[in-house]
Amino acid sequence: MINLSTAKVAVIGSGLIGRAWAIVFARAGVEVNIFDQNNEALSECLFLIKALLEDKLKYGLLQEEVSQILARIHPVQTLEEACQGVSLVQENIKETVEAKLALFSDLDRLCSSTTILASSTSWLPTSLFTEKLRGRARCLVAHPTNPPYLIPLVEVSPAPWTSTETIERAMEFYAAIKQEPVLVKKEIHGFLLNRVQGAVLNEMLNLYEEGYASSADLDKVMKYGLGLRWSFMGPFETIDLNAPAGVTDYAARYGQTYADVSKTQKDNPWSATVIKKIEDERRQILDSEQISERSRWRDNRLMALKKHQDEQPK
Ligand SMILES: NC(=O)c1ccc[n+]([C@@H]2O[C@H](COP(=O)([O-])OP(=O)(O)OC[C@H]3O[C@@H](n4cnc5c(N)ncnc54)[C@H](O)[C@@H]3O)[C@@H](O)[C@H]2O)c1
Repeated sequence: MINLSTAKVAVIGSGLIGRAWAIVFARAGVEVNIFDQNNEALSECLFLIKALLEDKLKYGLLQEEVSQILARIHPVQTLEEACQGVSLVQENIKETVEAKLALFSDLDRLCSSTTILASSTSWLPTSLFTEKLRGRARCLVAHPTNPPYLIPLVEVSPAPWTSTETIERAMEFYAAIKQEPVLVKKEIHGFLLNRVQGAVLNEMLNLYEEGYASSADLDKVMKYGLGLRWSFMGPFETIDLNAPAGVTDYAARYGQTYADVSKTQKDNPWSATVIKKIEDERRQILDSEQISERSRWRDNRLMALKKHQDEQPK
């Protein structure tokens, strides 16, 4: 059993995702060393984290004072210092194989042999940047969903050489800090969430390009339709409840239609022309200068939803 009050982790990279992970770990009672190679990013991270925590406090999502949580987050000046005595490293640097290869090689050298080395990468399988490492058995991907302090899903995706013990410890640790880990049983580009998101976006782009609806109306299909159900149950549970006798009954009624529709869906709708049209429609609705303000609105909506979800019986 993991004792969170004596656990210590390192967060490498203090950008958007690194700061968010620091909140997740610290609010669970874990001490956090945070390091960034960019001094400016490192020096402003506590200030930015404090603002996020104050928002969460407003929505009643914190069990402690902001200052108590902040006191567990320690910006450090070197990677060596960050790795001292930690049981897990959460890497959040830029999304290139070269950068991850170089950092994981340093982490493998600097960390104790029992430290789990986890990457937040959105797309890169663990085996692309850990194959040559002596300690490759303790490496895996733990892909969060942005922002992880509000959206709990963590996709744990090991390489073929990651040890079972590492996988079990990682799953146990993310669950203990109140995230929802899921295990990706075989390596696949984009893991689970981004592949599902990609399938939805592909079809939305296709429908838009073929002129079936405006981008705003297609967004409504999700926010006033599918998204309402999907915010508390998955598509498999949805279809199990959408026919009187469950999944098999649903498939008997609608399966062939879905199969026929899938034959009319195109492979690659990401053309520059269609993106430009959607950009123009979006900029009519939201000026580019308002994007960060609107992102804050999104996070506040997520906080209200999270509070609602936390209050519901499981
Ligand atoms: N942004 C998202 O929605 C999202 C969601 C899930 C996962 N991720 C993944 O998280 C990772 C970080 O993404 P982000 O959006 O936080 O990026 P970001 O650009 O906001 O932050 C990256 C930070 O890493 C620092 N950095 C770069 N190289 C470094 C190194 N060698 N050592 C220490 N610090 C270094 C940079 O200075 C920067 O502050 C990426 O792998 C990304 O794919 C992003």
